[in-house]
Amino acid sequence: GKETRIKSNLSIFKMKIICHGGAGHTPKVQDGVDKAAEEGWKILKETDNPTLAVTAATIVMEDDFRFNAGTGSCLRDDGRVQNDAAVATSDGRMGAITNLQDFKNPILIARELLDEFVVMLAGEGATDFALKKGFKQAKVKGSEKGWTGDTVGAVALSSTGKISVASSTGGVRGRPVGRVGDTPLWGSGFYCDEHIGILATGVGEAITEQLMCYRAYQHNENLEKSLDWAIKLVRKDTGVGIIAIRSDGQVCGLSNTSMPFKIIEK
Ligand code: GLY
Repeated sequence: GKETRIKSNLSIFKMKIICHGGAGHTPKVQDGVDKAAEEGWKILKETDNPTLAVTAATIVMEDDFRFNAGTGSCLRDDGRVQNDAAVATSDGRMGAITNLQDFKNPILIARELLDEFVVMLAGEGATDFALKKGFKQAKVKGSEKGWTGDTVGAVALSSTGKISVASSTGGVRGRPVGRVGDTPLWGSGFYCDEHIGILATGVGEAITEQLMCYRAYQHNENLEKSLDWAIKLVRKDTGVGIIAIRSDGQVCGLSNTSMPFKIIEK
């Protein structure tokens, strides 16, 4: 269950990171997930900053064409790429973008929103914001292959008990332009507070309908049982997965399909 603890700057927590390469993805891409986790872990050890760690890990997968995020994003029904991404932190900040086009690393644009009053931007507004912040817009071709798994993401816990989550996706192949999946939706595709960082991956419509991340968090059992309960909210043939870290040190990745993931802890 949830624990109440007095927050301090003491380094009393065991640092950890968990990364996933998407529900429905083949175990063949495990090396890419391992590489992402190792990069995130390196940054976590160097900086003890979980936001920098989860975004660094996510960028590795956005830049790896085998994953459905960033450069390898799947295509909408008209052949274009539209990206969703989100970042949130245990100190109560969040940033999400949806239907963003032609930026190589959408996760960095979502991260930029952490320090703004506005928490979520779509389409044209997200583009204007990104350009204003100095990001370069350049054609993202995406992957013409079938659905190569889903959303990628990472959750990390610092030695002072801070948690951050980062999630990035090309969505689901063939969905209409303007469609919003679970990834940028607070409580559905991502959630973070001082007790937990949690991310979902898989068929966004089902995850959104079930408010999956928040309900998994509210389910009052150990982490693995809670994630299992939440995954069972959807039909067995609807591929979904969840990763999470609790501030009490529990860490878990679980899916009803294949979902390459990697945990690194001290
Ligand atoms: N889970 C990502 C999406 O459905 O768009």
